[in-house]
Amino acid sequence: MLPNSELILAIESSCDDTAAAVLNGRKVLSNCIANQTVHKAYGGVVPELASRAHQSKIVPVVQQALVQANIDKNDLTAIAYTQGPGLLGSLLVGSAFAKSFALSLNVPLIPINHMQGHLLVHFIEENGINTPTFPFLGITVSGGHTQLVLVKNHFEMNVLGTTLDDAIGEAFDKCGKRMGLDYPSGPQIDKLAQTGNPKRFQFPIPNMKGYDVSYSGVKTAFTNFIHKQTQNDSNFIHENLNDLCASLQYTLVQIILNKIEQVASENQLNQIVIGGGVAANSELRNQLLARKESHHWEVFLPPLKYTTDNAAMIGITAYYKLQEKQFGKLTDASKSRLTY
Ligand code: KG4
Ligand code: ZN
Repeated sequence: MLPNSELILAIESSCDDTAAAVLNGRKVLSNCIANQTVHKAYGGVVPELASRAHQSKIVPVVQQALVQANIDKNDLTAIAYTQGPGLLGSLLVGSAFAKSFALSLNVPLIPINHMQGHLLVHFIEENGINTPTFPFLGITVSGGHTQLVLVKNHFEMNVLGTTLDDAIGEAFDKCGKRMGLDYPSGPQIDKLAQTGNPKRFQFPIPNMKGYDVSYSGVKTAFTNFIHKQTQNDSNFIHENLNDLCASLQYTLVQIILNKIEQVASENQLNQIVIGGGVAANSELRNQLLARKESHHWEVFLPPLKYTTDNAAMIGITAYYKLQEKQFGKLTDASKSRLTY
C-alpha cells in the first residue's frame, strides 16, 4: 500500500463507454476506457445494446484499471460510480457492480453525478491542468447536455442556462449522420472542418432571450439545406464536405459562445471552465482562447483525455465526497435524470 493513500476505484457507465479509474487522492493512477463499437452500425447509441456491452466489459476494464495502477483491490479506500444522469440500463450495470464490489471489500460506496464530474476534472492534480477558484462559470457541452452553470463550490452548482431542445453534441452527431459520417460525428466534423471555409454556408443563430440556448433550429435548417442541395446535385455533400463541416461547426460553436459572453458579463464571472465531449472541439477551444484578452477571461480547457466520458472524472468528484464522508447506500437508485 502507498503511504498516506486514499485509493478510490471509480466506475463510469452512463452511456456507451465502460470506464474504470484508480485515483490516489487527486492523482490519477489509471484511467481505462472500453469503447463500444456495436453502435456504429445504427448511427447512434442503442440503449439495450449499450447495457449488454457494459456487462461484458466491466470486469475486464476494472481489472485493467487495478493492474495499471499497480494496486491490490484490498487496498481500496472506497468505490465510486456514476449514479446519473444517463441511460438507465447502462447506469444499472455500473451501480450493481460497484455495490457488490464495495460490499465484498467492506468499503464505502460513493454515488456521483456525471455532470459534476465533467466540471471537476479541472481539480485533478496533474501537469497541464490548471485549477480554477470558486465561483466560476462552468460550461458542460456533451452529447446529452449543454449547460451554463454557476459553480459555487465542489458540490453547489446552479444551472443558469440550458438547451431547450437538442444538446450541442447531439446537433454535431445528427448533422454528421445526415452527411453520412459515422457515429459519433463530432470528432470527424472537427477534423474535416480544419480545411474547410466556415463562412461558405450560413445557418441561423437563434437570438434567445435569457440564458438558454437552442440547437434544434440549426439542425433542421442544416438538414433541409442538404436535402435541397442533394436534389439538384447528388454529389453535393461529397464535393463540399469540408466547407459544410466548417460552416456547421462555426454555427454550433457560435451559439454557445454568444451565451457564454452574455452570462459571464452579466454575472461578473471571468473564469470560463469547460467540460464534456464537445470540450474537445478545436473551434470552441480556439474561440474561447481568442477572447481571453479582450474579455479579461481566464479560460480552463481540460486535457483531451478528460473531455469525453471517462472514470477519472468520477474519481476526482468522489475524492471530495470522501473528504466529507458523503457516502451512499446499497439501496440508492440509479437515476436517468439527475440535477446538480
Ligand atoms: O461527454 P460525452 O463523451 O458523452 C456524453 O455525456 O454525452 O460527449 C460525447 C459527445 C458526442 O456528441 C461527440 O460527437 C462529441 O461529444 N464530441 C465532439 C468532439 N469530440 C467528441 N464534438 C465536437 N468536436 C469534437 N472534437
Ligand atoms: Zn458525459
